[in-house]
Amino acid sequence: MIFFYLDLNKTAMAEKTLTRNNIGNYFNQNDSFDFIEQLKSVDKVILNFSMINLSIPALLKNYIDHITLANVTFTYKGSTDGNAIGLLTNLKNVQLLTTKGGAGTSNAAFTEYVKGMLEFLGAKVAEPIINEMMDIPPYNEQTPVLNLEKVKEEVIKAAKLF
Ligand SMILES: Cc1cc2nc3c(=O)[nH]c(=O)nc-3n(C[C@H](O)[C@H](O)[C@H](O)COP(=O)(O)O)c2cc1C
Repeated sequence: MIFFYLDLNKTAMAEKTLTRNNIGNYFNQNDSFDFIEQLKSVDKVILNFSMINLSIPALLKNYIDHITLANVTFTYKGSTDGNAIGLLTNLKNVQLLTTKGGAGTSNAAFTEYVKGMLEFLGAKVAEPIINEMMDIPPYNEQTPVLNLEKVKEEVIKAAKLF
């Protein structure tokens, strides 16, 4: 079994935002193709991220922008109904393991967006796990590992299906 641990905080790619000025060179070997190849070489992914301003971290958005490439990770070639055909069908199981500081706000631009985006690319994405209220007592006084207890049942259930 091959196992990769990718910390987006340590990649140059994840700090590069797609702009009108850099689009010509944005999808290059180091910033894009290497990460696409890595994604194509695995069948399971656990994606860990927290909510930032009702959305996802910009680092993760930059990663998504780098790996979403026409005719490489999705295509309209062969589509008869206008829907894109995802080419990351090797991703048989993706689990989103996420945290929020509070609770009760919409997850539309958070887990729902990431789930929909990866499904667009052909991945099979499990029901996201969201550990809420991490910035509120007692959770902000506990370790992240202890806070996992709060979603333990969900994690065990997801792990059995993973
Ligand atoms: C800049 C910033 C923006 C944030 N925005 C939100 C937010 O919109 N909603 C929310 O519930 N938590 C928000 N948070 C709180 C983080 O989601 C929270 O600290 C994180 O989930 C804690 O988990 P961690 O210790 O694993 O990072 C924000 C945190 C930062 C630093």
